[in-house]
Amino acid sequence: MRELILKALQEERHVSGEQLGKRIHISRTAVWKHINALRKKGYQIHSSPRLGYTFVKSADLLLAEEIGIGLETRIIGKRIVHCDEITSTQDVAEELARSGAEQGTVVIAETQTKGRGRKGRNWVSSPEGGIYLSIILRPNLMPSQIVQIPLIAGVAVSKAIKNLTSLEPRIKWPNDMLIHNKKIGGILTELSAEMDVTRFVLIGFGLNVNNDKKALLEGTTSLREQKKEEVDRAILLQEILRRIEANYLFLQAKGSSVIIDKWRNYGITLGRRVKVSCQSQHLEGEAIDIDTDGGLLLRLDSGFNQKVMAGDVVHCR
Ligand code: BTN
Repeated sequence: MRELILKALQEERHVSGEQLGKRIHISRTAVWKHINALRKKGYQIHSSPRLGYTFVKSADLLLAEEIGIGLETRIIGKRIVHCDEITSTQDVAEELARSGAEQGTVVIAETQTKGRGRKGRNWVSSPEGGIYLSIILRPNLMPSQIVQIPLIAGVAVSKAIKNLTSLEPRIKWPNDMLIHNKKIGGILTELSAEMDVTRFVLIGFGLNVNNDKKALLEGTTSLREQKKEEVDRAILLQEILRRIEANYLFLQAKGSSVIIDKWRNYGITLGRRVKVSCQSQHLEGEAIDIDTDGGLLLRLDSGFNQKVMAGDVVHCR
């Protein structure tokens, strides 16, 4: 409902409570209650007896009302849960998924107190400026194919950044998003599965958008720092969600090869000498390709090829 009110307010310069009520089939009192709720969330909406309501400024929060307007996806973002502060969007998404939440449900936080990175690392999630989000998916894929899921997200996020900012993001396998060799975002994929049945997958991604420079760790950057101007988080997030959905539907319908090709356009790992640590193994060699299942193919110094499905990669000079 609030989504419809915001849409009407943004389309019309001024609109009376009565007109708004007629447009979305609720009473003037109900309109007034929704307007007050939006104001509490930080939207600036003026009202005057002569002109009615006037939209002044949005709340710069990734609210469901904001993201839902014009999103036009079929699955992803049909339900958006927005939280000001939580431990981790992965925790909330997992709880929702276990209690049967629909595929495509998105959990967004303005800040996380226990944001998780890959391999149990901490993910710094400073308030105001970042995108911290998890998506619940229930793909028709075997657990062994799930490694393809973060690739579609990496490609979607990179393409959205490129289109909206003209920056040139790159991906370090498996899914570190970099600009000018500094990390701008990362993807964490968690899976609930039995031997050969995937119950659900949580794609979580964190992106430094307008984060305060002081809150950025060494070796990381933000889109604002690179672009030298603020980036509209809501528009970027909508574009990312649309692209993740398109890639996800394509992956399930047509398989991974086109997505892997797209990944190659952004990847900077292939052709380089790398060190990979996965579980207790440490491997060194040349990264020669990404397999159709998303694994990284290495040519080891012994001359043998080896595929790794997960791990940390260091690019050697
Ligand atoms: C990494 O590069 O290590 C992956 C980082 C993933 C961080 C995101 S932020 C939203 C979601 N919730 C979390 O706790 N982690 C992911």
